[in-house]
Formats: sequence, structure tokens, C-alpha cells
Amino acid sequence: MALIEVKSLKKLYTTRFGGIKVQALADISFSVEAGEYIAIMGESGSGKTTLLNILALLDKPTSGEVFMEGKNIISINEREIAAFRRSQLGYVFQEFNLLDTFSIKDNIFLPLVLSGKDYKEMESRLEPIAAKIGIKDILEEYPYEVSGGQKQRAAIARAVITNPKLILADEPTGSLDSKSSTEILDLFSKINKSGQTIIMVTHSIAAASHASRVLFIKDGKIFNQVYRGAMNNNKMYERISDTLTLLTAGGVEVE
Ligand SMILES: Nc1ncnc2c1ncn2[C@@H]1O[C@H](COP(=O)(O)OP(=O)(O)OP(=O)(O)O)[C@@H](O)[C@H]1O
Ligand SMILES: [Mg+2]
Repeated sequence: MALIEVKSLKKLYTTRFGGIKVQALADISFSVEAGEYIAIMGESGSGKTTLLNILALLDKPTSGEVFMEGKNIISINEREIAAFRRSQLGYVFQEFNLLDTFSIKDNIFLPLVLSGKDYKEMESRLEPIAAKIGIKDILEEYPYEVSGGQKQRAAIARAVITNPKLILADEPTGSLDSKSSTEILDLFSKINKSGQTIIMVTHSIAAASHASRVLFIKDGKIFNQVYRGAMNNNKMYERISDTLTLLTAGGVEVE
């Protein structure tokens, strides 16, 4: 059974003024097997964050269905939603969503506090992650005292510290220099090899070339998919690059 099955998702937004509708998702269907590492690419405004928010149960589609391990998650109740988010899901928000009144460390601990873990366990989980992604020195700082790249790394630590079955990451390397990006991508590859499923939205071909499959979204639909198969990262990079050329036909911002 697939871990996630998305069927004919459609999302219309009604704007605050005048009720003009924006079609963020037109018709999206795909499935994800447990253990996959998926990158999602597409132009700005093509619906990537909308899709992740629906998968994270933060937003509801206008129509269509999402199944997680066979269970229809669009129709589950608030309590089940909270339990799913707490126990199965790690979400790296595009805007980080750190709490300004909490230190970086307490922000990262938050999901563990919510699931009742003791302090010693939280510390021992944080240590290797903080070392790996280079945030040991800022753990006592507050979000407003650190850089965008440091906030992004804290948001990633918070999403992975619970060892969630599914990680949704919205441009997790968007604010990072190439050294920090490489550290994050290494961490994701390691996490994925240990069996966790990752869905990562990215504008970076270099980041996407770490994935086992890349989905390309255009006009609210899946435009194309690239499967890694036997390709190494360099070959994958070329294939993604070629597909983006087709997708944008004229060129839009990609790194
Ligand atoms: N809450 C909202 N209300 C109205 N329209 C919205 C809302 N959220 C997103 N949209 C619109 O839906 C479309 C898709 O937005 P979305 O944020 O999913 O794009 P994206 O692919 O994540 O873009 P980016 O790469 O810039 O992050 C855009 O046209 C956007 O303006
Ligand atoms: Mg987005």
C-alpha cells in the first residue's frame, strides 16, 4: 500500500476583496511509497506550498482526496489530525514559523514537549542534529537574534527531531549558503536512508538532484516526473535541468 495517495486534488482560493478565485491546484494526482525521497519543482505561484499544506492537513482542498496508508485524511477529525501531526509528520515551513518568545533550543524541543518526552531524551536527540547542521552555538539565542539561514536550520531541526515517518520541507535550503545546503542535504539523505519519507519543495536543481524522484508542477498540474533509476546525482542534475527548460520554455528563476 502506498504511504500517500493523492487523487484529483483541486484548490481554489477566493480572495478577500471581490471574491475573485485563484486556481492554485487544477488536478493533481500522484502516489508516494514509504521510503521515497521526492522533490517538487515548479515556478513561483504554481501551487507547491498549497499542496504541502494540504498534505500536512493545514488546509483543505476544494475537491479531491488524500489517503495516508489507505486512510482518507481529508475527512478525519481534529483530534486525529493533531495526533497525526504530532506523531507522523515533520514540516519545515517556507517562512520557518519559529516562536519569537522561545529560544532556538525550546523551539526545536517544542514537538517533543508536546509528546511528553523528558528533558534528557530531548537533549540527547538534539546533540547530533545540532552538530550535523551547525547550530550548536545559537541554541540559547532567540529567533530574532539569528540570521535567516540559522532560523531555517532551526526549523529543519524542529521538523526532524521527532523522527517522523513523513517529512514535508518547503524550500529547506532557500536561505542557505552552499556549505549549509550541503549539510542539510546530507542530513536528509541520511534520514531517508534510515527509512523516513521526504517530500521537499525546491527551486534548486542541486538540491532536487539528491531525490529519488522529481515531480514538476505547472499550472496546478503534474507536468512531468523524473525517476532517478540508476542515475547518479550529476546525471540527475542534467535531466532535471533539461526538464525545467521544457517546463519554463524561456527560463524562470532557478539556481
Ligand atoms: N491564502 C491564499 N489566498 C489566496 N490565494 C492564495 C493563497 N495562498 C496561495 N494563493 C495563490 O495560490 C497560488 C499558488 O500559491 P503557492 O503559495 O502554493 O505557490 P508556490 O508554488 O508555493 O510559490 P513559491 O515558489 O513562490 O513559494 C498563487 O497564485 C497564490 O497567489
Ligand atoms: Mg511556496
